[in-house]
Amino acid sequence: MKFYSSLKTILLLVLFITCTIQGFSQNLNVNPEIDKKVKAFLSDKGYSWRDMNVPASDGQLLHDIIVENNYKNAVEIGTSTGHSGVWIAWALSKTGGKLITLEIDERRHKEAVANFEKAGLSKYIDARLGDAHEITPKLKAPIDFIFSDADKGWYKNYFIDIAPKMKIGGCFTAHNITRSRRQGGITEFVNYIEAQTNFKTTYNNEGGGVSISYKTSQK
Ligand SMILES: C[S@@+](CC[C@H](N)C(=O)[O-])C[C@H]1O[C@@H](n2cnc3c(N)ncnc32)[C@H](O)[C@@H]1O
Repeated sequence: MKFYSSLKTILLLVLFITCTIQGFSQNLNVNPEIDKKVKAFLSDKGYSWRDMNVPASDGQLLHDIIVENNYKNAVEIGTSTGHSGVWIAWALSKTGGKLITLEIDERRHKEAVANFEKAGLSKYIDARLGDAHEITPKLKAPIDFIFSDADKGWYKNYFIDIAPKMKIGGCFTAHNITRSRRQGGITEFVNYIEAQTNFKTTYNNEGGGVSISYKTSQK
């Protein structure tokens, strides 16, 4: 009797360990080759980002939010030359997701596409050249992660367009939300998101200032 009880305990333990290991490996695609290429790319570029790009700490923040929540359908508004896009797509290479990133300026868009290629992340990115005011309302649901970093005066409109297409648990982040520099469109956006009872918003002020709004219910 005692023997069967011990055997049962051992079997349950083995089952638990197997499930835990499987759970981790199912959630994250470990790809050392991509990791190596992205790290080398980011290290080579160093501080040479010149086109209003996010600081690396904000890139890391976005990356970690995506990985921790296992997001797969990401949208970035304001690609510029692709610094934040590289961090976001790097995270998506681990979750098995894809990024749609929007840029209105042709020179920056082309440079971003070249950077995504160099970083080895092109297959995780759909980089679109055009006006986000027109493209955003046409984006299809479901979207689970958004980084808004284009024209600040339009932040509230981007949020209104995208929020209904977001999954519960999804996250809307926006850049340059530093309390001391809030003005114009940013103030209007912050007042709007804070009034949404189905979103919970916090702020990270370590880099350029990022608002982080999680959708908690449909309405
Ligand atoms: C602050 S930069 C983005 C930086 C980028 N996220 C990064 O970290 O590498 C803002 C970008 O938004 C673009 N932009 C501004 N208005 C836009 C619009 N209506 N549609 C698409 N892109 C727009 C600008 O051309 C600019 O390159």
